[in-house]
Amino acid sequence: MTPDSTMKVKAIDWQAGELFLLDQRLLPHQEVWVKCSRVDEVVAAIRDMLVRGAPAIGITAAYGVALAARQRYRENAEAWQADIEEDLHALQTSRPTAVNLSWALKQMRRQLVNIKPGVDPFPTLSAFAEAIHQADLEANLLMGKLGAEILASNQDHGREVMTHCNAGALATGGYGTALGVIRAAWERKVIDKVHVNETRPWLQGSRLTAWELEKEGIPSLLHVDSAAAHQLKNSPISWIIVGADRITAHGDVANKIGTYQLAVQALHHGAGLMVVAPTSTIDMELEYGEDIEIEQRSADEVLCAGGQRVGAEIEVTNPVFDITPADLVDYLVTEKGVIHRPDKEQLQKLMSRKSMH
Ligand code: MRU
Repeated sequence: MTPDSTMKVKAIDWQAGELFLLDQRLLPHQEVWVKCSRVDEVVAAIRDMLVRGAPAIGITAAYGVALAARQRYRENAEAWQADIEEDLHALQTSRPTAVNLSWALKQMRRQLVNIKPGVDPFPTLSAFAEAIHQADLEANLLMGKLGAEILASNQDHGREVMTHCNAGALATGGYGTALGVIRAAWERKVIDKVHVNETRPWLQGSRLTAWELEKEGIPSLLHVDSAAAHQLKNSPISWIIVGADRITAHGDVANKIGTYQLAVQALHHGAGLMVVAPTSTIDMELEYGEDIEIEQRSADEVLCAGGQRVGAEIEVTNPVFDITPADLVDYLVTEKGVIHRPDKEQLQKLMSRKSMH
């Protein structure tokens, strides 16, 4: 499969030194591309969820560093390396949970410290950001293949799968992680249908995943989040397939709020839980899920629907991620290989391996 045939949907485009982002807040009804020429625009795009999904956030931040360097170099060719620190900090703090953001910034920082003062940093940094983007797409294609192989050989309950949030082309450099496995499995004809959780409150499932599946012609069925256990009980679903925002050294998984309850439900109904994520999502510096900072977003996301206030006067908590403990994960699929029932020892081995591509 060539990357081109996999790019029916994309969220990030880099054209002639400018970053274009598909505004995911407006999907599926409007496809509006927003141009970012400055780093402050990139920071706002990540913070306001114009772009979202852990790998896509990381890739966007990498391009943001290139744009920041261009700006800072133009302002002061000798001092840009010191001046850019403020921009790196703004990017770093734009959203807290997805570790791909700090991973990408670390990669970009390694490049930028080696650029000699007075040398235009933009060609080197923009090329490196493009390489990060391309590597993510290639990792997704590989994970798709690895995950589909597992699905092909283990479908005790039937040929249907469930997914949560959007871990598709929109959330990554292309093709998707969880949705990449679903795309590959559909292409190999090993699944018949995808059950889509709507993913309250931001509706990544009903707006984004449903849109991607429709474009691929993959049969899918949408339900409210609270119908998931009912669907697992009454439909031939063998696998719940999700992405991740951060995975700790012991294999605990931070992902979209609702993933944890799905993992518990999967156990009761005998479905498997497959987490699909590139190694840029694995944070070996954190031991356990409790160490992960969970983003809280505005109460309005919960109290309002379609722009209208529907909730009563009540205190709201809106954690947008939760932690699934490692012992509820059946398979972790990465571009460096697959782990059955992840733990620290296996993760350490995996991280020391070279990439398979
Ligand atoms: O708040 P979001 O939409 O950025 O959250 C995204 C998720 O939780 C995804 O499941 C995760 O980032 C994996 S995307 C490949």
